[in-house]
Amino acid sequence: GRVAVLMGGTSAEREVSLDSGRNVLDALRSRNVDAFAIDGIPALLEAIRAGRVDRVFNILHGNKGGGEDGVLQGLCEALGVPYTGSGVLGSALTMDKIRTKQVWLSIGLPTPRYVRLSKGDDVHAAARSLGLPVFIKPSSEGSSVGVSRVLDDADLDAAVELAANYPGEMLMEQLIVGEELTVPVLNDIALPSIRIVPKGEWYDYHAKYISDDTQYLCPGLEGAEEVEIARIASEAFIAAGCSGWGRVDFMRDRATGQLYLLEVNTAPGMTSHSLVPKAARQIGIEFDELCWRVLESSLA
Ligand code: DAL
Ligand code: MG
Repeated sequence: GRVAVLMGGTSAEREVSLDSGRNVLDALRSRNVDAFAIDGIPALLEAIRAGRVDRVFNILHGNKGGGEDGVLQGLCEALGVPYTGSGVLGSALTMDKIRTKQVWLSIGLPTPRYVRLSKGDDVHAAARSLGLPVFIKPSSEGSSVGVSRVLDDADLDAAVELAANYPGEMLMEQLIVGEELTVPVLNDIALPSIRIVPKGEWYDYHAKYISDDTQYLCPGLEGAEEVEIARIASEAFIAAGCSGWGRVDFMRDRATGQLYLLEVNTAPGMTSHSLVPKAARQIGIEFDELCWRVLESSLA
């Protein structure tokens, strides 16, 4: 059947998604899949109505017209079109970092302490309650868009102003000093972790997509620690209602070794800099094969 590779859209991650989407399209075509590109949800709806879509490979990133927040998933469900990745619940929940943390905390999974922020809240009081340094983030963005790392009380207001440019709520999150790690998930199974070593202070948009100086170590941990991060990633993925493929992001406290969950991405990046392809390659799954397996999982 014909596979629509859904990319682009209107979120702040549009360019990342177009990059991911072109890679997925090439990979599927190289496996003789009858695949074509579709930019955004309205165009997809038209193509479905015209009878041109048998299946959707979703590589739209982000919220509000991005394809990661449950809206696209609901549309496909309603129209009976199979799609890759998590369903409505997992997509909608994990697009919201605050509520994802609430679910994890309720079952004892570790995540950094946080304060929910709305416009007009006393950000300085919030920072006193958490203790600096902190991250300030829009609750429902990806790729570190709108995120600031705040070490100094004087920088709080500008950070909130930046995050407030994006839809939805904001959160202030305790900054864990240590290593950034991620665990890709494929067919509900954790792949080897990756430890990310950015050249600068943290893994921001530039370090994610532009810099060639970011280092990636895979597997990211050894022995019992690698087993532990895979276990937490699987539990967190399932607890958040996710299925199929995705990526679970972590921090590891350098002093104590404690792992902390940050978030789940249900349509993770597939750019040449992205993480899921690196972990797949580590266990012998090349990019074309990875795309094929993600597509295959939409049959279930
Ligand atoms: N949100 C970006 C695309 C990622 O998680 O890879
Ligand atoms: Mg993300």
